[in-house]
Amino acid sequence: MATERTSLFIFFGGTGDLAYRKLYPSMFNLYKKGTLREHFAVIGTSRNKLTDQGFQDEVRKSLGTAKSDKEAEKFISHFFYEAHDVTDKEHYSVLRDRADELDKQFKLQGNRIFYLSLAPSFFGTVAGYLKETGLTDSKGTDRLIIEKPFGRDFDSAKQLNDALSKSFEENQIFRIDHYLGKEMIQNIEAVRFGNTLVESLWNNRYIDNIQVTLSEKLGVEERASYYDNSGALRDMVQNHIMQIVSLLAMEQPVSFTDVDIRAEKVKALRSLRVYNVADASTNFVRGQYGAGDSQRAYRDEDNVPHDSTNETFVAGKLLFDNYRWSGTPFYIRTGKMLADKFTRVDVVFKKPLIDIFSFPQNHNAPLEANVLTMFIEPKAGFSLRLNAKTNGQGFQTMPINLDYFVDDKDSKDTPEPYERLLHDTLKGDGTNFASWSEVSYAWRFVDQIRKVWDLQQPEFPNYTPGSMGPAAADELIQRDHRQWFYRLNK
Ligand code: BG6
Repeated sequence: MATERTSLFIFFGGTGDLAYRKLYPSMFNLYKKGTLREHFAVIGTSRNKLTDQGFQDEVRKSLGTAKSDKEAEKFISHFFYEAHDVTDKEHYSVLRDRADELDKQFKLQGNRIFYLSLAPSFFGTVAGYLKETGLTDSKGTDRLIIEKPFGRDFDSAKQLNDALSKSFEENQIFRIDHYLGKEMIQNIEAVRFGNTLVESLWNNRYIDNIQVTLSEKLGVEERASYYDNSGALRDMVQNHIMQIVSLLAMEQPVSFTDVDIRAEKVKALRSLRVYNVADASTNFVRGQYGAGDSQRAYRDEDNVPHDSTNETFVAGKLLFDNYRWSGTPFYIRTGKMLADKFTRVDVVFKKPLIDIFSFPQNHNAPLEANVLTMFIEPKAGFSLRLNAKTNGQGFQTMPINLDYFVDDKDSKDTPEPYERLLHDTLKGDGTNFASWSEVSYAWRFVDQIRKVWDLQQPEFPNYTPGSMGPAAADELIQRDHRQWFYRLNK
């Protein structure tokens, strides 16, 4: 059994899709493993009128359990409900009284986690009222979890952060980036810093380029009203891709703690070159999907304006101006309605300087570059491409792969990102959350691209569903005499 953690959770947006789909099932997993047991309680809040009983019924549905399931029923008995308007300051005292009561009943030692799964425009208000009405005055720890998006540019993110930091210290704020809760993203550090073989080659002397691909098969679904105001750059690049890239680019942390890891990620992001107008235009391309055989164009999706210039695809080249990476580009791409759903990192090494096997009498194909692929999802594992001799007479070489994949049983036991992130919050470990400095440097980079794009009219649509994005994404990398390592029809 895991170490039991003690806390009250107050969920703002407690009857939302995220809470029912991800948060309560993740908490139930923590309960089954023993991280949550006797000493926890939940107050769900939203504007909806619900009784405790009604809320518990909804939680049961979200777990997919029956009333006869004793363990689930015990878990559900820790859930309570308060209808609450987040802008109604007076009502926070009702929440506070309920919190104090549950604190006594479940012996929660005053530990509180406030989870804001709300529109970001309410974050500052809620944080302020929590403090003003004394909800953060209990003797234990207070932690605030917030969902993305954290602003829509640097200025709005800063405003938001200034508002939050009036009530919470940076080490009490847990900004969710669910990619940091993924098993294989966490594995980046293990593979880099746990292997001399890898880390000693992890620099511009041996690595030619690094490619990060977050490919989605689905389109915008029912989220058009959010997505059309965000676009792939804000939705995926500013957060998930920047986080992955900083883990790939950072120096070895002094120790494996949140403070030291964050310090290195920030240092890496600070050395990311922020583009001027000309470089932003050449080094980043965008796309929007048109119609496919049985797929309508983005502009014809529900709730998308017919003349939308919102991007559903981004590809770009990132350059770090530091000793380790100078001259080794990181190429990134992400988009909706692409060929498949997967996330992967391809680390392409330099070819041997001299290819002694290819000489006229030997007719050997040129040596291939070594490539270390990290498969993040849905397949989880690594593949290392090496050159080896073909079996038999003569001396021909061929590329072979050393593969390791997490097997089905282990994948089933892999905790969901939200389970991991809730667990980390209970422990007060901020490693897998985005710090304000990381977020702010990521916005500074992304804002420049956005600024340039906002001045130009894109020629959309420019890619077909089921492809790997617009031709411009291929041209971007081919200009540097390189190729995407993962491509269709190779
Ligand atoms: C979210 C984005 O942060 O990540 C979505 O808002 C995207 O647009 C999703 O679909 C992808 O997450 P995952 O875990 O399915 O790769």
